[in-house]
Amino acid sequence: MLKALSSFLLAACFVLQPACAQGTTGKYTEVGQRPQMGWNTWNTFACDINEKLVKEAADALVSSGMRDAGYVYVNIDDCWHGQRDAQGFIQADPQRFPSGMKALSDYVHAKGLKLGIYSDAGDKTCGGKPGSRGHEYQDAQTYAAWGIDYLKYDWCSTDGLAARGAYTTMRDALRAANRPVLFSMCEWGNNKPWEWAADVGHSWRTTGDIYLCWDCEYSRGSWSSYGILPILDKQAGLRKYAGPGHWNDMDMLEVGRGLTFDEDKSHFSIWAMMASPLIAGNDIRKMSAQTRKILTNREVIAVNQDALGVQAWRFMNDGQLDLWAKPLADGEWALMFLNRGDTARAYRFDWAAHGIADDVSGHHAEFGKKPYAYTDLWSGATGDTGKPLQMTVPAHGVVMLRLKP
Ligand code: GLA
Repeated sequence: MLKALSSFLLAACFVLQPACAQGTTGKYTEVGQRPQMGWNTWNTFACDINEKLVKEAADALVSSGMRDAGYVYVNIDDCWHGQRDAQGFIQADPQRFPSGMKALSDYVHAKGLKLGIYSDAGDKTCGGKPGSRGHEYQDAQTYAAWGIDYLKYDWCSTDGLAARGAYTTMRDALRAANRPVLFSMCEWGNNKPWEWAADVGHSWRTTGDIYLCWDCEYSRGSWSSYGILPILDKQAGLRKYAGPGHWNDMDMLEVGRGLTFDEDKSHFSIWAMMASPLIAGNDIRKMSAQTRKILTNREVIAVNQDALGVQAWRFMNDGQLDLWAKPLADGEWALMFLNRGDTARAYRFDWAAHGIADDVSGHHAEFGKKPYAYTDLWSGATGDTGKPLQMTVPAHGVVMLRLKP
């Protein structure tokens, strides 16, 4: 039945070519042009998931204002799977998802949201569930029939597989199923996807999993998880590979899960500056007003979603203080003063002394010569570059500005 439906859709697309304006090969280009935004089950719930939780998360995305701020993907991570049936089609776990995935996608879609799912290029997912290896086209058809809009595709149990081939196979399978799906690659940067995946996926993870700490590495034996600063530092050299439709993914957000208020703001600002996908990982059903305010800061989100699609770079460093710049559309800029250290730092920035030039995008600015008006995106304070900026950057904190010429 699924097979017949998919052949019919492919044939229809062939006959009605204008209706399939984006072409019928390669990755979908109608999605992923801005870093994707949404929520994912993994960071808080790991394998303890079910349809009630996913529906409640969808409800919370709407009631919290997150959907309207741009978070449209509701992503089910690992462990939703049941078994494959006699023909090899994957089933949802009947205990955890008794109404089935189609009913869940209908629920999510009715709220103006999109549904994401998770699989793995290997025999088994990282949680030991059935992977898609050898079932790629079948799985892509199943996801299309369920109304899935997003696929996170992991890299456990992949002995003997080449990453480029495996991810390209799933890209082609998604295309053959003829439902636009955002393809989120998750092989932790092991195979340098930034060098080959711009036409394969819409984003690729650049590191191992995020860990709930400011500056630590947590060893899990053969691999490590990393805190906020180590993940940031591991992006060195990668910005030239990112752009509209193909983003460096620094992993899901830990905002609202136990970092300090300043650390949460910094974490969110960094991900925004780096044009990383913004996928919340906290329990959004129960978040504090403070957490909601961070996640729905529209000014910071606008920096992340900017149409130019250029990732920030560190243009200066003064001890524990990093200065990052992100060129924006229409000659605007975002600047972030990041205090990596454990004590607050008073800092004076003399605009006249620092021109900046981006060797990736070609954008440059002389803030001292031509006056720019700026807004502090966390405090709301305003000013201009006519005189030096005197600020205090909290420990593990940021000052983030948007500048208009
Ligand atoms: C890997 C991924 C995580 C998560 C888990 C699920 O570790 O990197 O983001 O999807 O698998 O098992």
